[in-house]
Amino acid sequence: MNIRAMDKDFVLFRCVHWGPLSPSNIETAPANIPGLLEGQFERNRRFLTRVIDAYGSCGMLAMDREFVVGHVRFYPQAICDQHRFCCQDPNNAIKQEMVEMNLPKIENPAKRILRIDCILVHEDYRGRGLSHALLDGVLEWAREHNWTAVRAWASPDNYWLASQICAPMLRTYLKHGFEKAETAPSSEIRDLIRDLLTKIRDGEMGAEKKKEFQQFCGGQDLSEIATYYEVERQL
Ligand SMILES: CC(C)(COP(=O)(O)OP(=O)(O)OC[C@H]1O[C@@H](n2cnc3c(N)ncnc32)[C@H](O)[C@@H]1OP(=O)(O)O)[C@@H](O)C(=O)NCCC(=O)NCCS
Repeated sequence: MNIRAMDKDFVLFRCVHWGPLSPSNIETAPANIPGLLEGQFERNRRFLTRVIDAYGSCGMLAMDREFVVGHVRFYPQAICDQHRFCCQDPNNAIKQEMVEMNLPKIENPAKRILRIDCILVHEDYRGRGLSHALLDGVLEWAREHNWTAVRAWASPDNYWLASQICAPMLRTYLKHGFEKAETAPSSEIRDLIRDLLTKIRDGEMGAEKKKEFQQFCGGQDLSEIATYYEVERQL
């Protein structure tokens, strides 16, 4: 397994939910994303290519031969402050205005903050330490490219919860020198997570997930377990 920064040779314009992706199948793999807008992957590709041109990369990839089996997406905090977006979520899609947006030169060291936006390891590759290897890769890349801090949000210390949303557990980040920041995730994010967990609890995401919810989180206060943490690592 090899960890490397994403470059323009292979722009990962969709995520590995469906399966490992390589140049040979990324265009043709089934999408199966309800509500995906026409041309979305092309908009993603153009936006990500511009971000790579401007900053050098915006992803760390875990490779099994030529296949991406896990990835972290990261962007300057300054972009995340302006837009909330996700490559595969039709409710937070990358829009044409983002493809055309002015990508700021960030020269002030105090503002050279990267945000880990999501992390995903394909289910066949979970539990083998890839999230740790990907985080190491991001921190090394960030240091080499003169970023002064990396931020992220982290789930409570429950692997099942972490596996429902693209965010490692708090304790995983703490092992990499992140600290809990003073700011908590916005109530908007907490609400999103609580809504997702409510759907899982009530069986809207399938009987299997409902059963797992009962096993791992049954009887716990949803508002409490939906409290995610903002974490920051100074470089
Ligand atoms: C969260 C996620 C990134 C973790 O990736 P991973 O490569 O499996 O994690 P690792 O193997 O590096 O393990 C990380 C931690 O989880 C623990 N862990 C791994 N598998 C576990 C399991 N089955 N049960 C309990 N803990 C487990 C490890 O012990 C490790 O703990 P540590 O941080 O204290 O060392 C992965 O589960 C994932 O991609 N989740 C997203 C799923 C998804 O598709 N969400 C949809 C919404 S977009």
